[in-house]
Amino acid sequence: MTETAATGTEAHGEAHAEAETEAAVEAALGGLDLDAKARLLGGRDMWTLPALPEIGLDSLVMSDGPIGVRGTRWTAADPSVALPSPTALAAAWDPELARRAGVLLAQEARRKGVHVLLAPTVNLHRSPLGGRHFEAYSEDPYLTGRIGAGYVTGVQSGGVATTVKHFAANDAETDRFTVNNVVSDRVLRELYLAPFEAIVAEARPWGIMTAYNTVNGVRMTEHHHLVNEIARGEWGFDGFNVSDWTAARSTTGAIEGGLDAAMPGPRSVYGEALARAVRDGRVAEATVDAAVRNVLRLAARVGALRGAPPAVPCLPAPVDGAALAREIARRSFVLVRNENGALPLKAGTVALTGAAARDARVLGGGSATVFPDHVVSPLDGLTAALPEGTLTYTVGADPNTELAVAGRGFTLRAVCRDADGRTLGTADAPSGHVQWMGDDLPDGVTHDTLHTVDLTGTFTPRESGTHTFGIKGLGAFTLTVDGTTYFDDVQRPVKDDPFLSFFGAPEPRAEVELTAGRPVEVSLRHTVALPDDMPLKVVTFALCHAEPVRDPDELIAEAARAAGAADTAVVVVATTERVESEGFDRTDLRLPGRQDDLVRAVAAANPNTVVVVNAGSPVELPWRDEVAAVLLTWFPGQEGGAALADVLTGAHEPGGRLPTTWGALADAPVTQVVPEDGELHYTEGVFIGYRAWERAGRTPAYPFGHGLGYTDWTYESLQVTGTTVKVRLRNTGDRHGREVVQLYLAPAAPDPARPARWLAGFAGVEAAPGERAEVTVTLPRRAFEVWDEAAGAWSFVKGSYELQAGRSITDRRITAPITV
Ligand code: BGC
Repeated sequence: MTETAATGTEAHGEAHAEAETEAAVEAALGGLDLDAKARLLGGRDMWTLPALPEIGLDSLVMSDGPIGVRGTRWTAADPSVALPSPTALAAAWDPELARRAGVLLAQEARRKGVHVLLAPTVNLHRSPLGGRHFEAYSEDPYLTGRIGAGYVTGVQSGGVATTVKHFAANDAETDRFTVNNVVSDRVLRELYLAPFEAIVAEARPWGIMTAYNTVNGVRMTEHHHLVNEIARGEWGFDGFNVSDWTAARSTTGAIEGGLDAAMPGPRSVYGEALARAVRDGRVAEATVDAAVRNVLRLAARVGALRGAPPAVPCLPAPVDGAALAREIARRSFVLVRNENGALPLKAGTVALTGAAARDARVLGGGSATVFPDHVVSPLDGLTAALPEGTLTYTVGADPNTELAVAGRGFTLRAVCRDADGRTLGTADAPSGHVQWMGDDLPDGVTHDTLHTVDLTGTFTPRESGTHTFGIKGLGAFTLTVDGTTYFDDVQRPVKDDPFLSFFGAPEPRAEVELTAGRPVEVSLRHTVALPDDMPLKVVTFALCHAEPVRDPDELIAEAARAAGAADTAVVVVATTERVESEGFDRTDLRLPGRQDDLVRAVAAANPNTVVVVNAGSPVELPWRDEVAAVLLTWFPGQEGGAALADVLTGAHEPGGRLPTTWGALADAPVTQVVPEDGELHYTEGVFIGYRAWERAGRTPAYPFGHGLGYTDWTYESLQVTGTTVKVRLRNTGDRHGREVVQLYLAPAAPDPARPARWLAGFAGVEAAPGERAEVTVTLPRRAFEVWDEAAGAWSFVKGSYELQAGRSITDRRITAPITV
């Protein structure tokens, strides 16, 4: 069979399946009355839409997203594989790796009964201060689109839907529910809509999520122009549109604006309110039908509508999640500095320091949180990889000033009792956080009978000294440690905002002298008193703990002494949950606590100092020229420490290239995230990221695209035929490696309205030492286009360009003219 014939048959098969799906959708729609339709669109609870057995529709289940699948329970008792953060995935510059991540996530979703993954996040790194920077891919729309398309293709190949989010221009967190982002059409088209458009074209996502924010005066959940006219009309998006959680504010506005499902339920602008709007003549029933069709089509695709053929009849082969998490992590690490071949490590002793070396920060905060069943810290990874007796560890500096949910060292279980003290049921408690939502209660327990929860067990300290215990949550608590009751009272809302009691800092309630290795009994009793009218019953509280606090100078001195006595020093520095999370933006890019002092002291004691940066987004590294090597590891996922050992020992090279410019805040050209009078104006136009750094003539710490491996590459030739580009290169180092060949397009005559150059293509290639390799890339038409605001259309800019191939935006190795 010829290739064309095969493609033809496939296309025919696809068209047939789609016709069958549409027929099933119409039949199902015909079986619903107005109330059922309105109820379907309003959501049943936090994560699901109602089942409609009369038409064979199962309840559609949704879950975050994007680095794992949490499922409908927000608890460590229901663990998930945790992959590296989205920025890390983008740092591998490999859509195929993103596709494989997606296949694993679909497998996780199916395991947890989830039909719709609330991911990927394809907003752009507009300002380094953006609190959810770690959750987005890049500052470059083309790279974002390619990684996002790979991810969506992977997830959907496993029969699970994606919702590409947050549509659109949701690039910061400050006042995110109300901010009006003012962005010109050209800037929307060329930057903020571009990844969505590319993903729709390449991967046909089955969903999008519309954002909290407003764009140019219209709420995104009501944005008829961007949703109905552009995404559906121009791009041909045929999936469903779900609101971000609680983002829908108006019944008629949302339904007219193309919003299909308003989540969560049961309190919703849809449901009864929507049925009423139709009956009152404010909304045409046909508009509701269009939304229901989109939801039913989604159900058909994921196999939740009886009689419709699922989009994926045959599932991909099973994936080993831990192995993939480790592979993605090492492929994502970016080696930004490596003087005198400091890495890989030579044989000898290693002094490891940093709080995050022992308690790694493997994922970012907020809705992206999942609970892995284990975490490999740098200390765990290096202990396993290095010969016995060659590794020492000191804390050095601990930026965590807050109590954390009880974890390491605690063995706990939850005992549920009724008002008479009778045991109703028990549950394992993998951490000190108890969170039971809705009917998700331990066997034998109901909200009507539950009176107290005793979280009890033992704690074995790893350090001697004064340990602090605390409580997060509202209501009556009794805290007992080692036989003494330290707190027996009620915790009330802080500042009348119950939200702060759940997500704010825990209250310290006990200070106890303990000895390393000697277990003590701990118990936290909570008396449950949920108001009867609560729409969703949630039992949530946490036992929290902090290690003994030692004198910061003494900690640094101890680390420096250990470093001075070792052949190599490895310092792990990190951000904390109070620095990088959904819900707020950053105000500076500094490493918290005394970590900069720690690096300087260690580097002064040992010239062979390697710094590992465990941060989801850019941080300032003011000592970067004083250390031998700097390795950026993002939020590396559950296997981060194992991957770190792979890379430090040289078992694998670090594969990452910067998907975003890293520089000091004072030099960063675009930083503003705080709206003025409710508005955030994207006044920088198309100049964000490297486009802005170049225009400002400023030099960042590390440029876009930069990243070293363990071998060297020589770019030998660049051949351009039409818009097809061939680059020949050679591995001139002494070990096998992978190179990311980056192609930048620069107008031959500078044009102040356009960036000096932009990423127009890339390809990864591997070669053995001395071996030649070749990549062929066809430049997309869009690389030559600008959005013409007057014409309201794309305009192909003819003329002369220079094509530049190289290792980063500044390390351009070879060029060729190109005229179009
Ligand atoms: C976030 C979304 C997330 C949703 C559900 C929102 O606050 O912005 O990204 O999918 O919550 O958890």
